[in-house]
Amino acid sequence: MKDITIAIDGYSSCGKSTFAKAIAEKLGYTFIDTGAMYRAVTLYALRQRLISGAGVVNGDGLRAALPLISIRLLRDAQGGGNTVFLNGEDVTEEIRLSAVSDNVSRVSELAPVREHLVAQQRAMGQQKAVVMDGRDIGTVVFPCAELKIFMTALPEIRAQRRYLELSAKGVQTSPEEVERSIRQRDAIDENRAVSPLRKADDAVLLDNSYMSVEEQMEWVLKLATSIRSSQP
Ligand code: DC
Repeated sequence: MKDITIAIDGYSSCGKSTFAKAIAEKLGYTFIDTGAMYRAVTLYALRQRLISGAGVVNGDGLRAALPLISIRLLRDAQGGGNTVFLNGEDVTEEIRLSAVSDNVSRVSELAPVREHLVAQQRAMGQQKAVVMDGRDIGTVVFPCAELKIFMTALPEIRAQRRYLELSAKGVQTSPEEVERSIRQRDAIDENRAVSPLRKADDAVLLDNSYMSVEEQMEWVLKLATSIRSSQP
């Protein structure tokens, strides 16, 4: 069967990465978490004080710094996720901290940042056999991907899942706080001028509010197999 490119876009905290990782594992494809790349740039900007305490990004400063930022994603030995390196340092854990989550939308709305990362993502996916997850994969990075999925779930359900995840990691927060942050991120992602989050016309919608991971996997594997076997 022919290898294809699978683009998975959608709202934050609806299980995109877990889903994309599981598909990649099942098909023997490479998983690329593009959100991790925006998070790594945000971490760099925070460390260099290119983001103020009030969350204002110094866009000119960050654009000038882009050539100094090297991001590498390596496949995890276990779990099939990505280990993320920022200028050679493993920042896999640090990019998930709330300081990064709270600022990443502001960084990812900057056109120079997007151009820089999209070019890298295209290079990483040019061999096909990839599952790439993000916000603009089906619309901008790989508009010709053979399979595009747009994922969503009700905000309160996403908040509940994320809250449980954070609590399991010992992070002190509340369901209300998590939901507020998710809704804020949705609004910024959907309304930004450059590459706003939107479903590509030819993407298949997956609302997993009431679906188990197993049901989602069964659905997507059928779809992927049928698309792969129909490739010339
Ligand atoms: O998937 P995530 O929550 O780790 O993504 C972090 C942020 O990065 C999110 O607010 C949107 C942004 N992002 C983006 O703008 N484009 C992508 N392709 C991936 C993520």
